[in-house]
Amino acid sequence: MNVLFTNIKELIQVREIAVDFLSGKEMNILPTIKNAFLLVENGLISNFGLMENCPKTELKIIDATGRMILPSWCDSHTHLVYAGNRESEFVDRINGISYKEIAGKGGGILNSAKKLQTTSEAVLYSQSKVRLEEIILLGTGAVEIKSGYGLTKSSELKMLRVIKKLKDKYPIEIKATFLGAHAVPVKYKNNKSGYLKMLIDDILPVIKKENLADFIDVFCETDYFSVADTELILEAGLEQGLVGKIHVNQFTAIGGIQAGIKNNVLSVDHLEEMRNEDIEALKNTKTIPVALPSCSYFLNIPYTPARKMIDLGLPLALATDYNPGSAPSGNMNFVVAAACVKMKMTPKEAINAATINGAYAMNLQDKVGSITKGKLANLILTKEINSYNFIPYSFGNPCIEKVFLKGKEIKKI
Ligand code: NIG
Ligand code: FE
Repeated sequence: MNVLFTNIKELIQVREIAVDFLSGKEMNILPTIKNAFLLVENGLISNFGLMENCPKTELKIIDATGRMILPSWCDSHTHLVYAGNRESEFVDRINGISYKEIAGKGGGILNSAKKLQTTSEAVLYSQSKVRLEEIILLGTGAVEIKSGYGLTKSSELKMLRVIKKLKDKYPIEIKATFLGAHAVPVKYKNNKSGYLKMLIDDILPVIKKENLADFIDVFCETDYFSVADTELILEAGLEQGLVGKIHVNQFTAIGGIQAGIKNNVLSVDHLEEMRNEDIEALKNTKTIPVALPSCSYFLNIPYTPARKMIDLGLPLALATDYNPGSAPSGNMNFVVAAACVKMKMTPKEAINAATINGAYAMNLQDKVGSITKGKLANLILTKEINSYNFIPYSFGNPCIEKVFLKGKEIKKI
């Protein structure tokens, strides 16, 4: 797709020299060009600069007067392939039953697994594609999607095949993660090691053979998977070429971050409960912390201590955690606003965390996350706004006028 955007009020997140990710003070720098043009050729960003240097062209022109352009959101943590919903648990929680109590009674992840196991691949696909289309229109241009609601060989593979089909059919960038170690299914209640063995010996080889996943994930948490379980899965994944990403420190801090770093995980996600030693362990590593403020909001649990982590020099990415239990929303605009309001991140930090740092958390930093020549033209064109601070300020009211994937405008699909 070829198109020239002209008279852009402000072109946001311009990186002439590509960066992998931003840490500490760098996160508060958001380079922009005011009164800019942006040229897209063959779906890629091919040139940009000041309007006074705008090339003459026969290409289709979109006049962006009064409006801004930024790279699409990069949502590095979702579970958007799932069956049905869990709004009755939501009401139970309002009535005072805790998330832990609900899970203990066979609700939570096991409830979603029960639904998914009896849902056909075709129906699972049609439910999931609605969510994918919804987030594309909310400005997301790259997304990671996990398995983990199957918990049997056939249902985990069913989830991964649905993710693969979404990847084949939609222009958005998609990365797939195998999260078999999300919860111990009832059948293995007293045989967790048998479940882990099944994941490693029965499912992983098929995933490898059919190239169904990019990453491997574990829910490292009290009552779910221990640090030793986490290491076992991460090592098995690495052997099959799957890099780790872990759910860790959501409710309790048990040393999972250190185990993840030891196994070179790409990201550690959640981090609502952070000890000083956990922050220290992350310093000067290539592992990126990922905060999920929609989950904190929805479950009424603490927010990741982003301010402290960034002030101590760490990088941070933001993602939605879109899933039926702890964050039934894939809206990155809300995530960016919540990060500013609840985690005291500046709009500059939040936009960096939701674009280039999110891209790094999916190993997609060479393709998306900034306005850089050669990257995909996955773009958000805002409505008329005064400054980019308005994006998180206007929480709940996305200020998006149009979205583009590979330079092509995506209308209601
Ligand atoms: O990332 N923490 C573990 N897994 C999901 C939620 C699971 C669920 O409640 O369905 C999460 O929050
Ligand atoms: Fe999650």
